Amino acid sequence: MCGIVGYIGRRQAQPVLFNCLSKLEYRGYDSCGIALLGDSIQVCKDEVRVKALEKALPPIAGLAGIGHTRWATHGEPSRANAHPHCDCTGRIAVVHNGVISNFQRLKDKLISTGHVFASETDTEVLPHLIESYYQGDLEEAVERSLADIEGSYAIIAVVAGEAKLVVARKDSPLIIGIGDRENFVASDVPAILDYTSRVVYLEDGDIALVTADGVRVRENGARIDRAEHLIQWSVADAQKSGYEHFMLKEIHEQPRVIRDTLREYISADGLAAEVIPSGEGGLENMLIAACGTSYHAALIGKYIIEQLVRVPVKVELASEFNYCGQVPPGSNALVITQSGETADALKTMKKLKEAGCQVLAITNVVGSTASRIADHVIYTRAGPEISVAATKSFISQLVALYWMALPHARVDLRTLDELIMELRQLPARVQEVLDNEAAIREHARRLARFNDVFFIGRGANYPVALEGALKLKEVSYIHAEGYAAGELKHGPFALLGAEAPVVAILASDHTGEAMLTSIKEIRARKSPLIAVVEEGNEAAGEIADSAIIVPRVNQVFSPVINTVALQLLAYYAARERGCPIDFPRNLAKSVTVE
Ligand code: AGP
Repeated sequence: MCGIVGYIGRRQAQPVLFNCLSKLEYRGYDSCGIALLGDSIQVCKDEVRVKALEKALPPIAGLAGIGHTRWATHGEPSRANAHPHCDCTGRIAVVHNGVISNFQRLKDKLISTGHVFASETDTEVLPHLIESYYQGDLEEAVERSLADIEGSYAIIAVVAGEAKLVVARKDSPLIIGIGDRENFVASDVPAILDYTSRVVYLEDGDIALVTADGVRVRENGARIDRAEHLIQWSVADAQKSGYEHFMLKEIHEQPRVIRDTLREYISADGLAAEVIPSGEGGLENMLIAACGTSYHAALIGKYIIEQLVRVPVKVELASEFNYCGQVPPGSNALVITQSGETADALKTMKKLKEAGCQVLAITNVVGSTASRIADHVIYTRAGPEISVAATKSFISQLVALYWMALPHARVDLRTLDELIMELRQLPARVQEVLDNEAAIREHARRLARFNDVFFIGRGANYPVALEGALKLKEVSYIHAEGYAAGELKHGPFALLGAEAPVVAILASDHTGEAMLTSIKEIRARKSPLIAVVEEGNEAAGEIADSAIIVPRVNQVFSPVINTVALQLLAYYAARERGCPIDFPRNLAKSVTVE
């Protein structure tokens, strides 16, 4: 997903733009660029990292400018395809995050009228369109250009000689940071936190004129005042705080994240506040949709709700549901999305609303697109998650799911009190897993030499196996598959052997015996086997080559404990293999394109 930034005010823009861009690197990118605005526009861009471009440039005067980190969609990573893009005269420059689906038709038409293009990108049609409409009013030219556009965009446009930024958004996030005689524009909050905590979230269809002295927002042509929000995060929250990688920092933040998310929903007298309006029929006919790690949270949510509330839950992969999913009448819909900007998840939300569903969202980003589409929102309190690999946001999603389910749990009051007490103690149990980090690191060192790994589990730990495999894949580039333990013998056994280790998650619940059987079958086929076992169940671990011991908790909470152990396993295997970890190749923090 691309990152865009803009600045206009009393400072030299060049260092501000590079600083803001550096805070968006976590989104993943392959090239970057800036444009400084004065009587002319100076564009500097290349297929390099932000720091490299910053070092390569001399100081260029200018009190306004725009910047971009590009995650390639149309056109390979290259200097020519990097943003900002300009029109033929070089007097108009644009940065863009999103996809212009009708760009080829527009490009052909512009070429037929003499426009010459310099890139393969969809974005480049924008400055040429703006030039074709420009008659001295940039805002009007942008508005007319966007009327021709189909697709998604968050853009900043500038024209030489005019001290203003014109910004607009549709289906891609864009915020404005309000300063003192200066203003900022960015794709996401961390970019501007060094300068201001005052933020305005633009809505789809908004066009804003941003100058050093003010911001004027229009929605569909009419002036509108968007509320100003004060961001509670600190810059430190969005920085490494002494950890080698954001991922490790965010894994270690999880006890605090669980406490913060719990605090959001525990009422003063300790009972679970209704986190979903009971008038919505509680959790009957619940349909949950999500992508990636959030989909794994949805799968665990299914087990939690079915086990505690004893109602069936339907879980859908958003990217599949959008093309072939049927919406059962009267569904209670829940979409889980950490960023609140995942294109597949947003498309599902719109499909569910069109089908007449009340849509609840669990998201980690205040003001995200998902939070505005949803009828109700549960905010997780994980704070900014910078590493592309989702860790703390996933655990906070599980906490939110526990709070959704507990008020509706079909258990006696004593059991409910015990569950709430255990949930309150979850931060301490997770800390115990983190305290065992050195032992897990040793397992990871051994695992790091392999190129194929299986993760297996049963019940609520089957999605944990999926998540453990995804984490290992994402950050260590080891091919890993999560599998239902009972399924391995239906084919994948053919792959077992000395070069195909298996990580088996053992629970002490009703699935325990069946897991022991699975482990014995696997051992008979010579695969190295790491067992994740609870304290007191070490005997089960003795069947394996080695065991990761985790604290014993009520089985409904075991996915939290087991996942944290597997996060550390993935992190240290990636570290052992010298991988970048926070910004894995080919990946983005939020996939805002389908
Ligand atoms: C998880 O580690 C990945 N970063 C990815 O699978 C992610 O969970 C997925 O893209 C969904 O993102 P969302 O929660 O922001 O919608």
